[in-house]
Amino acid sequence: GAPFFHYDGSQLMAESVSVSELAARYGTPLYVYSRAALKAAWESYAQPLVNRNALVCFGMKANSNLAVLQQFAQWGSGFDIVSGGELARALKAGARPDTIVFSGVGKQDWEIKAALQAGVKCFNVESTDELERISLIASQLECTAPVSLRVNPDVDAKTHPYISTGLKDNKFGIAIEIAAQVYQRAAVLPGIRIVGVDCHIGSQITQIEPYLDALERLLNLLDTLAGLDIRLEHLDIGGGLGIRYQDETPIAPALLLDKVFARLEDRGYGYLQLIMEPGRSLVGNAGILVTRVQYLKHHESKNFAIVDAAMNDLLRPTLYDAWHGVLPVARPSDTSEANDTTQARVYDIVGPICESGDWLARDRQLLLQQNDLLAIESAGAYGFVMSGQYNTRPRCAEVMVDADQSYLIRPRETVEELFASEQMLPD
Ligand code: LLP
Repeated sequence: GAPFFHYDGSQLMAESVSVSELAARYGTPLYVYSRAALKAAWESYAQPLVNRNALVCFGMKANSNLAVLQQFAQWGSGFDIVSGGELARALKAGARPDTIVFSGVGKQDWEIKAALQAGVKCFNVESTDELERISLIASQLECTAPVSLRVNPDVDAKTHPYISTGLKDNKFGIAIEIAAQVYQRAAVLPGIRIVGVDCHIGSQITQIEPYLDALERLLNLLDTLAGLDIRLEHLDIGGGLGIRYQDETPIAPALLLDKVFARLEDRGYGYLQLIMEPGRSLVGNAGILVTRVQYLKHHESKNFAIVDAAMNDLLRPTLYDAWHGVLPVARPSDTSEANDTTQARVYDIVGPICESGDWLARDRQLLLQQNDLLAIESAGAYGFVMSGQYNTRPRCAEVMVDADQSYLIRPRETVEELFASEQMLPD
């Protein structure tokens, strides 16, 4: 996200605000988002969809802060939710219920009920058991549940190395071979209205082919369904578009969308509404995690920079071995600081948590001193939302920058809050 987080001389800026000023004002560790970066990512989907029958449903699991959701809702986004909690957040942030699709393999009764009462656009159903459950609850409430079946297209991961959720052997979706049967069952169940088909084949995908493979399989299914006199209103190809963390070349949404629309028209399905569920690609490079160096340790074979952020704040390195860029918030000038006492070394950036897996970045060449600020890049997706309170560490504050203004969109938790609701046993 180069233009939104950039250097002005030696200073890292978030739009027109200096990151070191944000750190001074709000403390560290601190999540900082750029509203302009969110808008630019949004436009990369919205532009190619002008005059198209399409809906973008932000995969809000990637970043569910109310201020972030509010922006997307104002720009016309729908939302892909996976829980009753996310439904409540989306509604609170101003989402229109008829733009919400409800995904997830384990929808509970109360969640199905809440979604029916809110009037969501559709349930992305992942099993026959779930279909029967939704039918029952809708009948009890005397309403009709709009459903799409999440089909598992079993796309070939061998030719396309990506984090896959569209393969046979995982818990997601309904196997494509039995999908037509399940649609026939849906057609006769009370309280069910069939409206669509969906799939989601994985995340951080950087090749177009898996999407097109999956699309062909969905279109073949639509042909079968037409033969059974089952007709749909929409086709949802999920999310999953990758972003640049290190040296990846992301797919431009416009490129994918053009190909998808062309195929839909070729196969006679141009009338379907196209839905996408992007998460990471709308928010990932719109956020950084700002952290302060506490201590430096120079061992014989290894240098550690111990910072005030940890795996509880940004879990991706620990959980996925994920690579995030690390930038100095004040870039050292080449000449003046390269002396004997301060020199660039190769550091592991680690947190204070009592686990060897508590690291944020490894083997980074940096010129560091105690109290220096660092920015962990690409932290806008699956960052704060995956954070926790392990070691009784309050979760970070979150700030949104808009041009030369900054807004505190979630205050730092206090230590007292962390156990305020816990109860001790009577003496
Ligand atoms: N739709 C469904 C049904 C999903 O399961 C997901 C993400 C999305 C949409 C959004 O996918 P995206 O566009 O963000 O790739 N925590 C992991 C990523 C998990 C993605 C789970 N599903 C990470 O930090 O890399």
